Parts: sequence; structure tokens; C-alpha cells
Amino acid sequence: MIIEKSISASDAAALEIQGISLAFRERRQELPVLNDISLTVPAGKFVSIIGPSGCGKSTLFHVIGGQLKPDQGTILMDGQEVTGQRGLISYVPQKPALFPWRNTLDNVLLAREIAGNANEAARKEAQEWLVRAGLGGFEKSYPHMLSGGMQQRASFLRGLLAPQEVICLDEPFSSLDELTRSDMQRWLLDLWETSRRSVLLITHSIDEALLLSDTIYLFSGRPASVLHRVDVPFARPRRENLAEEPGFLELKREIGARMRAEQSKKPI
Ligand SMILES: Nc1ncnc2c1ncn2[C@@H]1O[C@H](COP(=O)(O)OP(=O)(O)OP(=O)(O)O)[C@@H](O)[C@H]1O
Ligand SMILES: [Mg+2]
Repeated sequence: MIIEKSISASDAAALEIQGISLAFRERRQELPVLNDISLTVPAGKFVSIIGPSGCGKSTLFHVIGGQLKPDQGTILMDGQEVTGQRGLISYVPQKPALFPWRNTLDNVLLAREIAGNANEAARKEAQEWLVRAGLGGFEKSYPHMLSGGMQQRASFLRGLLAPQEVICLDEPFSSLDELTRSDMQRWLLDLWETSRRSVLLITHSIDEALLLSDTIYLFSGRPASVLHRVDVPFARPRRENLAEEPGFLELKREIGARMRAEQSKKPI
């Protein structure tokens, strides 16, 4: 029995979303947002979601994180059903949710603290990451003293330093200028290529998704359903000059065309 269990656990995906549907209900109004979404994040893989604004991507993350209960479907981690359970993933929300009464360093260390290992070594590591993320000198500053992009970087760091194996990133670089964004992508890529955590990323950038991912899921407009799954064929380790290669440009064109076709179905 134990052997059977360990075999199935090692074969199981880190995160599996099966047939998730959800509608928001207010008074007599019903707003269907997720329509039978199924996707898989295999252990150690990088998976992205691209979809039109307002289609339901962040809502799906709230379901994965256990903050919202789906009307239908299940969430599995390592083959175990975990629908509605909280605290199992590292989650970087779309709007940085830093605690106003904690300084930057203490915000970044929060997940370590919850896991009971915010020791001196963890503080030193967090401090080094803060410097790399351009937040050196702001360790003792409170969130209201940081710009929007600085808050986003602090929130991203908190997610990276959290101990959970699965990390869900909701547009973590959306408030950053192009150069900082590209630094953070490179940094995430290097880190992921050495640590191989299982990542699910929401992004509006096709380039970002192609550079980072093994698989990309394209979502329809609301209610979101999976329109298409793209297996990204580029070898690793990947470098930014990949974006100039003909195969990259071709796939980028194809995804762009699919998304434009989906957007054009939207009522004006
Ligand atoms: N708590 C809620 N109650 C009612 N409606 C909600 C709630 N949260 C989200 N919605 C609605 O659900 C739909 C999907 O929202 P969601 O935030 O998931 O979109 P998104 O795909 O993440 O968009 P974006 O790319 O702009 O971040 C929207 O129409 C939104 O108004
Ligand atoms: Mg969103």
C-alpha cells in the first residue's frame, strides 16, 4: 500500500485543476466567471495563463488558494484533493497585499515566520534578495513609503521566499518599467532554473509567457474557459535573445492572432 502510494504521488502533478466552474451571485443576478477550467502544473514545471482582462484569471487563483469555493470541480495537489484548503500555495496577488504595520523586511519574511523559520539566516537571505530587487536601504521602510512598483517587488520577494512548493504569481511585474521588468524576469528564470519549483503565472505579456514557460494556457473571455494549450518547445536554459529567434516570433504571432480573434468576439 505504502509503495503504491509513493508511486502515485511521484507521478501526480504538483497542482491539478479539474473542471472548475464558478459564478458570482448578487441578489438575483448571476455572473458566470469560470467555465469548466481544467489545467495541470506538473512538478517542477513553469505554466502560464494568458487571457483577456476581466475573464476570470484572478478568480481562478482565489479558488486555488481556497479563498473562494467553486460551484463545481476540484483542486488537487500531489494527487490529494485540497479544494477549499488554505495555506498550501505561495501566492503573489495582483495587488500587493503588504501589511502596513510591518516594514519591508518583515513583510518579506512573513511566510518564513508563519512556517516558523524566520531565523537570522533567513533574515540575512531576505536582506540579500531585497538588495538584488533594488530595495536595498528600504528594509526598514513601511509600505506607504514605497512606490507601487517597489511594493510589487516586495510582494514578489515574499512569494519567492515562501516555503511552499507551488507558487502562483498573478501578474507580478505589471507595475514595473520595461527594464526592471526584464531584470525581474531574468531573475525569476535563473532562480526557477536552479530551484525548479512548480509555478503558475498569470500574465498579459506573450513574450514573458514564451520566455518563461513550459506550457501556456490561453483563456477565452468571461466566463473563462481553456481555449488552447501551447507546449513551448524552446530548450533550457533560456536567455533573453531567444525573443529574436524565428521560432519564438512565429509562436508569438500565432498566440497573438488567437487572442485577437477571441478579443474581437467581445461585445462593444
Ligand atoms: N468578489 C467578486 N464579486 C463579484 N464579482 C467579482 C468578484 N471578483 C471578481 N468579480 C468579477 O469577475 C470577473 C472576473 O474578474 P477577475 O478579477 O477574475 O478577472 P481577471 O481575468 O483577473 O482580469 P484582469 O486581467 O483585469 O486582472 C469580473 O467581471 C469581475 O467584475
Ligand atoms: Mg486579475
